[in-house]
Amino acid sequence: MKQLKQLLYLPTWFIKTRIFGKKIPMQTVLFINDLCNLTCKHCTIYNNKTPITKSYQQIREELIYSYNLGSRYVDLEGGEPTLWKEADKNFNSLVRLAKEIGFFSVTLTTNAFLPFNDSESDSIWVSLDGNREYHDQIRGKNSFDRLDENIRNSGHPRVSVNMVVNSINYSSVAETIQFAKDHPNIKSISINFHTPFKGTEHLFLPFEQRNEVIDLVIKMKKSGYPIMNSVSGLKAMKDLNFKKVCWVTNFIMVDATKYAECQGKAFDLCDSCGFCMAGEMHSVFSFKLDTIFAGLKLRG
Ligand SMILES: C[S@@+](CC[C@H](N)C(=O)[O-])C[C@H]1O[C@@H](n2cnc3c(N)ncnc32)[C@H](O)[C@@H]1O
Repeated sequence: MKQLKQLLYLPTWFIKTRIFGKKIPMQTVLFINDLCNLTCKHCTIYNNKTPITKSYQQIREELIYSYNLGSRYVDLEGGEPTLWKEADKNFNSLVRLAKEIGFFSVTLTTNAFLPFNDSESDSIWVSLDGNREYHDQIRGKNSFDRLDENIRNSGHPRVSVNMVVNSINYSSVAETIQFAKDHPNIKSISINFHTPFKGTEHLFLPFEQRNEVIDLVIKMKKSGYPIMNSVSGLKAMKDLNFKKVCWVTNFIMVDATKYAECQGKAFDLCDSCGFCMAGEMHSVFSFKLDTIFAGLKLRG
């Protein structure tokens, strides 16, 4: 029964949204804290001076709220989500909670600075911002080696990495994709670009260079590298000249602000957006088969 529900969810969601024009989120990005064990150059979220950690009860209410909107996939975000705890509860308690509420899948996004070998998340996205030199430059000393070691020791079957390409690390994209391919415990890599939130504008990669990176990623994907982005989705990210359907994800921020779509819109950043999910969702809505298959693989 549960499996049938899951099987029918995506086609039903697609009919309701694409054919009947309803705006129903499929996934939720829920920020559970803003405390972090790294201070990355590109990040505007961490707040280690006056950190917020949401209570279990608040997270429960926000999960139920998102579930009632129609969302069935949740990404628990931070800060560093693995640092979340309350009395005898830890991050895995939140994974179990989301499953009890009815979410099909829970994703952990982590910097992998700490071991995550006991994680009960369905999938894990580790943030990898280039080769050792660039990753450490952006994320701090030893962060690359610890990430590598913790991924090797994780034993989790669904660990992928996410690279956010910026003006520091763009020359290491091919090397990073090769690293992901050669790594015994990395399933795939997704590519995103830096979105210039206030104070990080200098990390934005100009479109000319972005387009060169996109051409390179498409070439590597076509020659068999395990790249999660679809070719159609990547092409859409070249000029961003498409109708955005970014209400596919609802966001609940650490201060409990609820956004019915990507918060980049509220900051007027759609014209410099680097979140490749925007291109992917546009391509799904344009019936691009390669993107639909990539999405099914991700959600499968
Ligand atoms: C904010 S971090 C929090 C989770 C965890 N601490 C980590 O580093 O993965 C979540 C993801 O957002 C990405 N990110 C942060 N700021 C970004 C920006 N301005 N543009 C695009 N991606 C960004 C990070 O690289 C990371 O992959």
